[in-house]
Amino acid sequence: MNNEIERRRTFAIISHPDAGKTTLTEKFLLFGGQIQVAGAVKSNKIKKTATSDWMDIEKQRGISVSTSVMEFDYEGYKVNILDTPGHQDFAEDTFRTLTAVDSAIIVVDSAKGVETQTRKLMTVCRMRKTPVIIFINKMDREGRDPFDLLDELEQELEIKVRPLSWPVNQGVKFKGVYNIYEKKLDLFTPDKQRVTEKVEVDIDSAELDAHVGDRDAAKLREDLELVDGVYPEFNVEDYRSADVAPVFFGSALNNFGVQELLDCFVEIAPSPRPTKAEERMVSPEEPKFTGFIFKITANIDPNHRSCIAFCKVCSGRFVRNQPYLHVRLGKTVRFSSPTQFMAQRKSTIEEAYPGDIVGLPDNGIFKIGDTLTDGEQLHFRGLPSFSPEMFKYIENADPMKAKQLQKGIDQLMDEGVAQLFVNQFNGRKIIGTVGQLQFEVIQYRLENEYNAKCRWEPVHLYKACWIESDDAAELESFKKRKYQYMAKDKEGRDVFLADSGYVLSMAQEDFKNIKFHFTSEF
Ligand code: G4P
Repeated sequence: MNNEIERRRTFAIISHPDAGKTTLTEKFLLFGGQIQVAGAVKSNKIKKTATSDWMDIEKQRGISVSTSVMEFDYEGYKVNILDTPGHQDFAEDTFRTLTAVDSAIIVVDSAKGVETQTRKLMTVCRMRKTPVIIFINKMDREGRDPFDLLDELEQELEIKVRPLSWPVNQGVKFKGVYNIYEKKLDLFTPDKQRVTEKVEVDIDSAELDAHVGDRDAAKLREDLELVDGVYPEFNVEDYRSADVAPVFFGSALNNFGVQELLDCFVEIAPSPRPTKAEERMVSPEEPKFTGFIFKITANIDPNHRSCIAFCKVCSGRFVRNQPYLHVRLGKTVRFSSPTQFMAQRKSTIEEAYPGDIVGLPDNGIFKIGDTLTDGEQLHFRGLPSFSPEMFKYIENADPMKAKQLQKGIDQLMDEGVAQLFVNQFNGRKIIGTVGQLQFEVIQYRLENEYNAKCRWEPVHLYKACWIESDDAAELESFKKRKYQYMAKDKEGRDVFLADSGYVLSMAQEDFKNIKFHFTSEF
């Protein structure tokens, strides 16, 4: 079993939309032999440019169930790539997926540098001490100077960086990347679809000059000297403890620098790490099975209301048809058709090991964050919710269907589609989301899956803050003063709904003993 754990690499590729996450994922699958020609995954992708309405997006989300996890074998390693939605409005999904990975690769566009979503994703990685590798993509475009980019990464992402590959020129003159990690230069012929033959070149040889030209060769040698002077030597432990992020350069589209990245990744990325439960740390080598649900995907077809709950195996061996304890419900459950996912297919599995993701058919018994064990009372900690960006009152548009509406809202929130707050003053329900699309998805799904109708009404809010204090009297006085703006989240925790940044900073000023949190876990 230790062998199986040791060879697993479970990670996510994340990026600001358009940086090249899908393209890179696809190239990995190409190297992994899962697909023969690029383009297969891409067609499942949500097209952001087209004026696709959200229904299309939902449909495509349905399709992309099969690509939620992509597994392949590479050089003796078992690689599990967890897919994350490309659309910004579903960012919360991505955050949750990050709870199930042991490391991440962040893709950055060489011309755009660090973007808003990159920053947010990195914050989540920092919170969880997830080791990250950064891939600077699109070196075939006129981008920024590599040294400037590295400085920006350090400052904006608040992590030390260490380049492990280096570009030979960039833009139209981009010729490839020098592999600092392995001290070799592989030159490829650009090809968008296939992996081409490569030539290995010694950097100190005249051959380099012949291949890339005198100027680029001289510049490369000069840059590498500078890199060695500026950045301390790479140490795997610093990366695994999330103190240093190795950086690779390349062009995913042209297959430059991708194999360098993948080869190094499988070697240095951590195998499944211990997982923190409320009761104790759970180590992957423990013989008894434990796991948690980090994602639930619904089928939008109302006639086949089948969900799949994605379970990350944290310890022990998961076995088909074996009875397991659903800790929250205190019930024994068994799964006769657990699935695993290969690039485009899914198939029933007999067993799974720590680091693996198992798809469990779900008829409404799971919530995000649920724990499964071999009998032990364990509670894995999920990812905290973040303060939503948009808020609306949700109202019942069909008085005959109040019950259905309630059930629908409850289940959708369990699935993690959005967040629910109940205003303590007027009892009205407020839904908080990251983007407009989520409201549309909720409305559509309520109608189609629960036969309930809802209506949105505007509520002007700026942030939701979870509040706590050691000073019970001050907390009470705050709640009294702000009674119109106090709400409870789904777990019954106190939330202050601030209607402006000004009001919030005044509240922080006036109530010094109250802590205002922008995430639900503290
Ligand atoms: P995402 O998943 O992070 O959103 O990005 P995706 O891979 O879809 O890439 C976004 C766009 O950037 C795509 O172009 C893709 O072809 C392009 N791209 C990815 N890697 C590179 C690269 O190394 N160099 C260059 N020049 N472009 C790259 P698109 O026009 O949006 O899509 P498509 O219609 O061309 O497929």
